[in-house]
Amino acid sequence: MTQIAIGCDHVGFELKTHIIEHLQSKGYSIKDFGTHSTERTDYPLFGKAVAEAVTSGECEKGILVCGTGVGISIAANKVKGIRAVVCSEPYSALLSRQHNDTNILALGSRVVGRDLALMIVDSWLGGEFEGGRHQRRVDMIE
Ligand code: RB5
Repeated sequence: MTQIAIGCDHVGFELKTHIIEHLQSKGYSIKDFGTHSTERTDYPLFGKAVAEAVTSGECEKGILVCGTGVGISIAANKVKGIRAVVCSEPYSALLSRQHNDTNILALGSRVVGRDLALMIVDSWLGGEFEGGRHQRRVDMIE
């Protein structure tokens, strides 16, 4: 089963906990890189930690949560080999897997509700990269 790295800042902590419970109930193996409370902290720390877990091969994919998903995805995208996408609806999440081979999904806890967040997560995890012409474009990014 896919090993998923997950991380958040203080604003994303509650949604991250909800996502972990959901994924564990579906049998996914989760490695939680924190933060572990709502005490104020800095999202770049967790974006980097999850990104490095993915590029090292320790985890296959990563999920990040901050207030908007923006800052933490920017931090993750600084790590070479990461293609992190911020999504607030399932369609882009699915297409980001099929066309862009995204390896990190970022969510905004202040943007999406809990149920919508889980729909986005499920769409993203269910998407398979289609390769072909999309592989050439992903290679151009690298
Ligand atoms: C924290 O206040 C907030 O800036 C952070 O969670 C995130 O939204 C940054 O992009």
